[in-house]
Amino acid sequence: MHLLWLVKYQLASTIFIIISLNKVTSLDFNFPTFQPQDDHYLLLSKNSKIYLDAIQVTPDIRGPIQDYSGRAFYYKPYKLWKKNQVASFNTTFVLNITPETTPGGEGLAFILTSDITLPQNSSGEWLGIVNATSNGTSQAGILAVEFDTRKSSTQDGPDNHVGININSINSIQDVPLINTGINISSGVDVTIKVQYSNDIISVFGSMNNGTSLMTLLVSPPLNLSSYLQEDVFLGFSASTSNYTELNCVKSWEFSGVDIVDNDKSDLVWVYVTVPTVILFILIGGLVFFFMRLRRKSYLETPEDAYPRIEDQIKYSSMAPKKFRLRELTRATGGFSPQNKLGEGGFGTVYRGLLENKEVAVKRVSKNSRQGKQEFVAEVTTIGSLHHRNLVKLTGWCYEKRELLLVYEFMPNGSLDKYLFGDKNFGNTNNHGLEGCSLTLDWETRRRVIHGVAQALDYLHNGCEKRVLHRDIKASNIMLDSDYNAKLGDFGLARTIQKRNETHHSTKEIAGTPGYMAPETFLTGRATVETDVYAFGVLVLEVVCGRRPGNYVYAQDDYKNSIVYWVWEMHGKGKIVGAVDGRLKKEEIMEEEVECVLVLGLACCHPNPHHRPSMRTVLQVLNGEAQPPEVPKERPAFMWPAMPPSFKEAEDRSLIQGTITPFTEITGR
Ligand SMILES: *[C@@H]1O[C@H](CO)[C@@H](O)[C@H](O)[C@H]1NC(C)=O
Ligand SMILES: *[C@@H]1O[C@H](CO)[C@@H](O)[C@H](O)[C@H]1NC(C)=O
Ligand SMILES: *[C@@H]1O[C@H](CO)[C@@H](O)[C@H](O)[C@H]1NC(C)=O
Ligand SMILES: *[C@@H]1O[C@H](CO)[C@@H](O)[C@H](O)[C@H]1NC(C)=O
Ligand SMILES: *[C@@H]1O[C@H](CO)[C@@H](O)[C@H](O)[C@H]1NC(C)=O
Repeated sequence: MHLLWLVKYQLASTIFIIISLNKVTSLDFNFPTFQPQDDHYLLLSKNSKIYLDAIQVTPDIRGPIQDYSGRAFYYKPYKLWKKNQVASFNTTFVLNITPETTPGGEGLAFILTSDITLPQNSSGEWLGIVNATSNGTSQAGILAVEFDTRKSSTQDGPDNHVGININSINSIQDVPLINTGINISSGVDVTIKVQYSNDIISVFGSMNNGTSLMTLLVSPPLNLSSYLQEDVFLGFSASTSNYTELNCVKSWEFSGVDIVDNDKSDLVWVYVTVPTVILFILIGGLVFFFMRLRRKSYLETPEDAYPRIEDQIKYSSMAPKKFRLRELTRATGGFSPQNKLGEGGFGTVYRGLLENKEVAVKRVSKNSRQGKQEFVAEVTTIGSLHHRNLVKLTGWCYEKRELLLVYEFMPNGSLDKYLFGDKNFGNTNNHGLEGCSLTLDWETRRRVIHGVAQALDYLHNGCEKRVLHRDIKASNIMLDSDYNAKLGDFGLARTIQKRNETHHSTKEIAGTPGYMAPETFLTGRATVETDVYAFGVLVLEVVCGRRPGNYVYAQDDYKNSIVYWVWEMHGKGKIVGAVDGRLKKEEIMEEEVECVLVLGLACCHPNPHHRPSMRTVLQVLNGEAQPPEVPKERPAFMWPAMPPSFKEAEDRSLIQGTITPFTEITGR
C-alpha cells in the first residue's frame, strides 16, 4: 500500500518535471478579494492569515501584533528568465496599511524570490525581506519593492517612501512620497502597479482605487536575470516592530508574458525530447502496473463490469428500491436546472416528486470513473444501514449508463450554509461579524453535534461491518425539517470487516482539505481515527461558526486552521471566546460550550492514538464522562505516533489496527 502511494507520488513528480522541461509557462491570476478558501492558492508563512477579505501579511488585531514578520506568496512559481530572454509582467495590487502607533511600523514589500521561507529575525527594520545575516549578500536572492512607513536607520529613506531593493534592505533607488499625494500608512486603500519589461521596473501608485491616473513613483533600469533565479515566487512580505500597523493586501492581479523559445537550432530540443519519450514509456508501464494493482484490490467492485454491480446490489439484503430511469426523469422534470439542489460528490443533486413524496435524486456524472466506485459504495454501504442520523437511501437506478441514487428529501439543506452564511443568500461574510439571517441557535447546534456523533458511532461500532465515512464535513451534514442532523454523501465510504481488524484502513487519499488528519498526508490512509479527526474539526466549526481553514503543502503546517486557532485560545484559558459571535449570550452555558470545544480539540489531537473513540465522544456529550484532558499547547505532530502508555480496553483494537510497527517506536 505504501508502494502505491510512492508510485503515485513518483508519477506526479515525473509529470511535473516533464511539464517544466517542455513548457515555458505564463502566469495570470486575479484575486478581487481574498476569501478563506483562497489559501489553496497561497503559500502563507506562520504569521500571515486571510482575514476580513484581505491577506494580513503580519498578524491582525486578534492578538499581539508587535515584532512580527510574515510572507505570503502565490502558490506557483513564475518563469522570470531563460537563457538570454527575460520575461515581462504587470501586476496591480491594493494595499491597506493602518497604523497603530505614530508613525506605523515598519512596512510592506512586494517581493520576487525563489526561496519562500521567511528569514528568522526578519521583523522590525527588515520588513521580512532579509535578516542581519543575509542582508547585502547574493544568497538573499530577492527583489523587493518596499513601501516603508517608518525611517528605521540613517540609511533608510524617510517615513512614507517607496524603494527598489536588491538582496538588501537598502534601496538602489527610493523616493519620498510626500509630494505625490500618496500616504501609504494612512489606513486608506492605495493601488500600486508594478511593471517590468525591457529591463526596467516601474512602480505607479494612486490613492483612489485605481480610478484616477496612476503616478509614476520609481523606474530604475534593472536586469533581474543577473540577481534572481530563473523561477521565482511572487508575493508580499511585511513586518512590525514596537511600532505597529496592520499590513493588508486587499486585492491582487498579475499577468506575465510567455518567453517564446525560438532557438530551434539548439540541442536542447534533443535533450528534452529523448528523456521525455523514455519517461512516457516508463510512466505508461507504471500506470498499467498501478491499474492492475488497483483492480485487484477492488475485486468486489470492478469498475468496468456494470452487470456485476447490479447483481451485487440485487443480492444484498435490504437493498433499496430499484427505479426506472423514466420514473426518475419524470420526477425531476427532466433533470431541470430549476430543480437542482446542489453539486458535488461526483454528481448533481435534483429535487424530485415520487409518489407525491419529495425526494432528492443524485445523478452521478457520466465521465467520472470515480463515480462508479462511489455508486457501488453508496448503494451497498448505506443501502443496508439504518439510523436516524444517516440520510436514507431509498432507491437507485442504473440504466443507459446512467447511475442515479434516490434519497429522502432534506428540506433544510446542508449544515454549511447555516454556519458561515451562503453566497446565494446575499451574505458573503465568513467571519460571523455581521448578522446572518440563517443561523442556528445553541440548542440546535448541540443537537447537530450529538446527531453526527451518534451516526459515526453507529458506523464505527454499531453496525455489522465497520464503515469509515472518510468525508465528514459541514456540507455533507443534512438537516431535516426539525433541524435534526443526518450524515450523508457516502461516496467515499468504505466498509471494513470487523473480524479482520488489521485491514481496517483504506489506502486512497481522500477527503477534504481542512478536515484531514495530519497523518493522512504521510500514510495516505483513512482510519477510524481520521474520521474522528474530521468530526473534531466539524465540532469546532459548528461552535465557532468559522470555516475549517486549510492545510498547506508541508506535514504539520496548518494555515488559518481552526484547530490551531481554538487551541491557541485554549492555551490562553479563553476557549469560550471562540464561540460564534452570532450566538446570544444568554442562550449558552459556558461550561457546556467549553466541554464541547475541549472535546473537539481532543478529537483533533495530532497523535491519532490520543483521539477519543466515538463511544467516548458520545459519553462526554451525554454528560456521562468528562472530556479528555487536552494539553495547553497543541502537541507537535510526530510520526510514527507514540501509542499512549495505557488506554481503555475498548480502544485496543484501534491501536492494533494501525500500521506503526512497534520496533520502529522502540528504536527512537
Ligand atoms: C503591461 O501594461 C502595459 C501598459 O498597460 C502594456 O503595454 C503591456 O503589454 C502589459 N504587459 C503585460 C506583460 O501584460
Ligand atoms: C537569518 O535567517 C537565516 C535563515 O532563516 C538563519 O539561519 C540566520 O540565523 C538568521 N540570522 C539572524 C541574525 O537571525
Ligand atoms: C499619513 O497618514 C497618517 C494617518 O492619517 C498620519 O499620521 C501621517 O502623518 C501621514 N503621513 C504623511 C507623510 O502625511
Ligand atoms: C541581462 O543579463 C543577462 C545575464 O546577466 C544577459 O544575458 C542579458 O543580455 C542582459 N540583458 C540586457 C538587456 O542587458
Ligand atoms: C520603540 O522603542 C524605541 C527604543 O527602545 C523607543 O525610543 C520608542 O519610543 C518605542 N516606540 C513605541 C511606539 O513604543
